[in-house]
Amino acid sequence: MVGLSNRIDELLTAGSFISGQKIAKEFGVSRTAVFKRVQQLRKLGYCIEGVQKKGYRLVPRFDGLLPLEIKVRLKTKIFGKEVITLDSVDSTQACLNKLAEKGAPEGTLVLALEQTHGRGRMNRSWSSPRGGLWFSLLLRPSIPPMELHKLTLLFGVAIVASLKPFGINATLKWPNDVLVERRKLCGILLEASTEADRVGHVIAGIGINANNSFADLPSEIRNSAVSMRDILGTKIDRAELLCGILKYSEDLYLEASEKGFSKILSLWRTSSCTLGQRVEVLLPDGILSGLAVDIDEDGYLVVKYHGGLKKIYSGDIILL
Ligand code: BTN
Repeated sequence: MVGLSNRIDELLTAGSFISGQKIAKEFGVSRTAVFKRVQQLRKLGYCIEGVQKKGYRLVPRFDGLLPLEIKVRLKTKIFGKEVITLDSVDSTQACLNKLAEKGAPEGTLVLALEQTHGRGRMNRSWSSPRGGLWFSLLLRPSIPPMELHKLTLLFGVAIVASLKPFGINATLKWPNDVLVERRKLCGILLEASTEADRVGHVIAGIGINANNSFADLPSEIRNSAVSMRDILGTKIDRAELLCGILKYSEDLYLEASEKGFSKILSLWRTSSCTLGQRVEVLLPDGILSGLAVDIDEDGYLVVKYHGGLKKIYSGDIILL
């Protein structure tokens, strides 16, 4: 029955109307069985239009984040081909990691309307109230572990481009922050399973303050964070944003796997708010102050300081 339901769902999400009779004939089932599935989907929250003489079609709701609502809008080949939407979860990273270990395919996406223990970089917590866009995407890239951090840059570029149609001009702070006027709109967290010189799987976690307001965030980050709703004064369609990010990042991902990361690095430089800025870098042995002059071909930050040039491989920087 699950197999049949999936096949009926596929026809309902094809975009145009399809008659119950046609679906029934295609799968050798009764029209009642088709109607039952339509009713089941409606109960799950989907809007299925039914028009006499035309048939049925699934219409995504504004800001609708249910799996089929995302699938019907997606124009990707791999990213988001499998979508799991959860009402509430500890962390989409943890949830997707379990699925990855059981062999989930590349492109599987886990999205949650809220996270109770959202994870940030460097063991920080990530506040994830309702209204935000919180998701994790499974990748199985064939790149050496040394190049993994470049995927963070790839997603940064894709997010900045996907925010533009919403009228938001965001910039990138090395290595993983998307900022608007120096306030954090989005964070990217890459977690990978690696063995020796091989990457097993990568979970790319993206958290965007979308329809939550900065007032919903804990007081300690309220002054350094911002949401799309704060900027635009209205709620956005998170499904549209998500589909944009998935399409853009998949295009870059396929390009990188064929031709390398040069294009991504140059796009990153164009959108950066880091380069040309005075920065402080928190190193294990102290603080380095200098001018951020470039990210090199390996994706590392190059800082000019009184002792010369220093490459920064990881960690946090402060824009002065
Ligand atoms: C950071 O800036 O520290 C990265 C934040 C990443 C947050 C996202 S929200 C979806 C996914 N699930 C998590 O628990 N974290 C990432």
